[in-house]
Parts: sequence; C-alpha cells; structure tokens
Amino acid sequence: MKIKSVNLDQVAGFPSQFPKDDFDEIAFAGRSNVGKSSFINSFLGKKNLAKTSSKPGKTKTINFYKINDKFRLVDLPGYGFARVSKKEKEKWNKLIHDYLYTRENLKEVFLLVDIRHAPTKQDMQMYDWIIDSGFTGFVIATKYDKIPKTHLKKHIKELTKTLNIDDEGLVFAYSSLTGHNNDVLLEQVGVIIDS
Ligand code: GTP
Ligand code: MG
Repeated sequence: MKIKSVNLDQVAGFPSQFPKDDFDEIAFAGRSNVGKSSFINSFLGKKNLAKTSSKPGKTKTINFYKINDKFRLVDLPGYGFARVSKKEKEKWNKLIHDYLYTRENLKEVFLLVDIRHAPTKQDMQMYDWIIDSGFTGFVIATKYDKIPKTHLKKHIKELTKTLNIDDEGLVFAYSSLTGHNNDVLLEQVGVIIDS
C-alpha cells in the first residue's frame, strides 16, 4: 500500500466527538510511552504529525487520521504508568473503553509493546480482549533499535510466551527511528483495508 494523503480528521475527548461516518479504522493500543504516536508518524512518513514525548501521557485524546481518503488510523491515549491524577486516568480508560467496545467500523486493533520489556498485566488483559473480540492479534514490538539484533529472538520469545501467542508471524519488531518493518506493515495494513 502507498500512503498518498494524510489528514487529521478528528480529535476526540468524548465519544460524542468520534467521527460519525463508517470509514474503516485500525487502532493502535498500548501503554503510555510505548511509541504509539511515534509509530503513526514513522509509518506515515510524517515526522511531526502526531505529538510525541519522552514523558508518558502525551496523547490525551483519541486522534483520527484519514489515509488516502479511504480509511483511518487511530492513535489512542496510553494506559499504565502515566503520572497523572487518578481522575484523569479513569477518564482516559473510559474513553479508550468506549471507543474499543462500541466502534462498529473498527477493523483491527494492533497492540504495541516495548520490545525490551516483558508485557505487563494490562498488556495481557488488552491482548486477551483483542483476541476475544475477534481481531487477529497483531503485535508491534517497538524500539527495536534499542536492543542488539542478536537479542531479537530472545525478546520475541518472551513476548509471545507472556501474551500466549502461537504464531510469531503476528509480531513485528519495529523502530520508528529506522523504519524497520515499515514496508511489511504497509503491506499488512493494505491487506486489512482491502479485505
Ligand atoms: P502516550 O501518548 O503517552 O501514550 O505515548 P506513546 O505511546 O504515543 O509514545 P510516544 O510516541 O510519544 O513515544 C514515547 C517516547 O519513546 C518518545 O521519547 C519517543 O521518541 C520514543 N520512541 C518511540 N518509538 C521509538 C523507537 O522506535 N525507538 C526509539 N529509540 N525511541 C522511540
Ligand atoms: Mg501518544
């Protein structure tokens, strides 16, 4: 698939702000700081489209990016360890929950995890939900540039074991710095959208 056009379609702090039309959507979920927004920038070849930060908790809204006037990529707020008030955390969790549980035009949810660390309990819960909801269960293991290449197998093994994944083909090591596996994921997204 080729990226021909990218537009920030909608920024939603509340479910009433989710786009009303039924363009297909692919969402990217994961802990705060795992690299969801960086992935979207790198994947689309747009450096500063989605705002990123070294501090967890940067994305506070659900951001909808329209691609090729055909479908949307959806950048979600992170769950987990952002240093924000309990009230704010609950608000984000509810927003993510409302989106994932009610969105009829949601075609796939990719789980992003940091390749360096074993998935957390929340990652496992999210992954179980993804599978139980009938999605394929694609995983993007981010920050691949931060481990030696010789450790790749070990990290993927740990990750697939913790998340209970049989098929390693569902896991893509990724780096938003080098664009490693961007071509493979462009093709995969193309297949999802055309199916
Ligand atoms: P929230 O919006 O807080 O949920 O975080 P996020 O998952 O969107 O993470 P974000 O893209 O803001 O990235 C967090 C930090 O990780 C930033 O400092 C990024 O530069 C860095 N980062 C993201 N992806 C990569 C990667 O592939 N390699 C390296 N080295 N750093 C990365
Ligand atoms: Mg973000």
